[in-house]
Amino acid sequence: MAANPVYPVIWKDDRVLLIDQTRLPNDYEVVDIHQAEAMATAIETMIVRGAPAIGVAAAYGMYLGAREIQTSDRHQFLAQLEVVAKRLRATRPTAVNLFWAIDLMLKTAHQTSGDVAQIKAVLLETAQTINADDVRTCQQIGDHGLTVLPSQPGKLRLLTHCNAGALATAGYGTALGVVRSAWTAGRLERVFADETRPRLQGAKLTAWECVQEGIPVTVITDNMAAHCMQRGMIDAVVVGADRIAANGDTANKIGTYSVALVAKAHNIPFFVAAPLSTIDFAISDGSRIPIEERHPSEIYSVGNTILCPQGAEFYNPAFDVTPAHLITAIITEHGAIAPADLQSRLQSLVTA
Ligand code: MRU
Repeated sequence: MAANPVYPVIWKDDRVLLIDQTRLPNDYEVVDIHQAEAMATAIETMIVRGAPAIGVAAAYGMYLGAREIQTSDRHQFLAQLEVVAKRLRATRPTAVNLFWAIDLMLKTAHQTSGDVAQIKAVLLETAQTINADDVRTCQQIGDHGLTVLPSQPGKLRLLTHCNAGALATAGYGTALGVVRSAWTAGRLERVFADETRPRLQGAKLTAWECVQEGIPVTVITDNMAAHCMQRGMIDAVVVGADRIAANGDTANKIGTYSVALVAKAHNIPFFVAAPLSTIDFAISDGSRIPIEERHPSEIYSVGNTILCPQGAEFYNPAFDVTPAHLITAIITEHGAIAPADLQSRLQSLVTA
């Protein structure tokens, strides 16, 4: 049974503990990670997944890799740390938090004076700070979400896609953080969770988190969202993000774009909830966001059951891009920002 609240990545007794998200909801298992290579594999196989969570995991992976380096020569140490970074960078291409965390760890290593032992100690502290900051950031996102959700006489019925919950972050969640805050504030009637084919993060993980906390959740298949909106069952949509381009175009789990289109057609507000570390200002628009393609077996089979005939071909993009014009606001730890204001708001935050 899980501890409540849920923390998917924990540093304990000189190793990282990961909740194995491939086993939920049926089995709650924790995997011990001692080495950078094991962390890279855990990210690739989605034992840990969700943009902020893989950022935190990669930060610990950098420390584990640093710890494995034998040399006491600073120059050689930094060169070998680049090799660790290269391996971790190659795990998953879309979520920018992964690259953000690895770059921050590398920068910290280069900027820390002293011997190799001191650099290693600072790297562990930095990974722990990234971890703790993410939980706080998610709580702030949740609170800011309350200020933009529709104010209406009745309680809210929110739709979410994939899992942008505690499991996808260091804790609390982004989109599900907004749901949690609405629940705590007494403003939530229920959350509708798209099942999220092909890996079913909504059915397995979002529903699991909600059930853990007693938040009323209704799981629907992805093709039911339009029907629910047409029937007036949804007041707002809140999703997470894997990478947001400078113009506000947002990559998130495959199927998010369809949800945004039908929300627009029904005049339902569509919110993206994400920390600033998910915004990639080096990328001008969503067409330049790298989209991960995963193995076709995620489509043609469920467990050991084969669903499709031999001879069929498959296309399995893990993410899609929702254009900024379909997004009502991006809810960050600094408040809700209209996509068009993203660059100017960040500029003012940097200069503040
Ligand atoms: O492939 P996944 O499960 O890592 O994809 C996760 C998502 O798309 C989430 O919505 C996104 O990472 C935001 S998590 C706060």
